[in-house]
Amino acid sequence: MLAVEDLHVKYGAVHALRGVTLDCPRGKIVSLIGANGAGKSTILNTIIGLVPAHSGNVTYDDLDITNRKTHALVAKGISLVPEGRRIFLNLTVVENLLVGAYLTRDRKERTRRLGEVFALFPRLKERMTQIGGTLSGGEQQMLAIGRAMMQNPRLLLLDEPSLGLAPNLVTDIFATIRKINERGTTILLVEQNAFQALKIADYAHVLVTGTVEISGTGGELLENSDVKRAYLGM
Ligand SMILES: Nc1ncnc2c1ncn2[C@@H]1O[C@H](COP(=O)(O)OP(=O)(O)OP(=O)(O)O)[C@@H](O)[C@H]1O
Ligand SMILES: [Mg+2]
Repeated sequence: MLAVEDLHVKYGAVHALRGVTLDCPRGKIVSLIGANGAGKSTILNTIIGLVPAHSGNVTYDDLDITNRKTHALVAKGISLVPEGRRIFLNLTVVENLLVGAYLTRDRKERTRRLGEVFALFPRLKERMTQIGGTLSGGEQQMLAIGRAMMQNPRLLLLDEPSLGLAPNLVTDIFATIRKINERGTTILLVEQNAFQALKIADYAHVLVTGTVEISGTGGELLENSDVKRAYLGM
């Protein structure tokens, strides 16, 4: 569904991605793990057009989408849940969610999507009129994911969804990601929590200073001795 080929990204003198190649097959969950600064967020931000590619290609459904505008990609069914949540702190839960559906004129369709998000996150339904900034960290993360789901994505890019969450909430968030995937959304997931990310993944890649060093199924990487030592603390 999504293919990244020999992607290079430079921020001025910083060569952040040095020839990244990876695939995200339809219906699967693909995880990217790697240390701070390895380039994980840069990959997602480049796919969705927030950061320009220096060279290389991003292909989506056989269409070259390299350096396309973000809103055009959202319209094509790609959504990003950015690192650090970035919800609208002054808007209510339901207002935040409706902002996610801004491309949809059809009111019935918006209401249907709202219902789906509330089914995924009953906690958000209970807090529909609460101001975003007063939600707990975990609730804000649910809202950020919910807002992306309001765009009805076929491909969901998730940047560190478990960051800063208590262990029980981490389990909940990963269960929700699985549920979203089971409903037919392809997922490309970036995570510091390597264990959970590999456990949920069909395929996974280890990123080291801007290149993919190890690739395999989630299960293979969980058993890989280098991965165990460097990312699983074993
Ligand atoms: N806007 C920017 N300007 C300059 N350098 C940047 C910019 N954004 C990222 N970088 C650099 O690019 C490299 C990759 O950053 P990136 O945010 O993609 O890493 P990451 O793997 O997501 O890290 P983390 O796990 O800490 O979120 C880092 O060295 C970072 O300092
Ligand atoms: Mg990052």
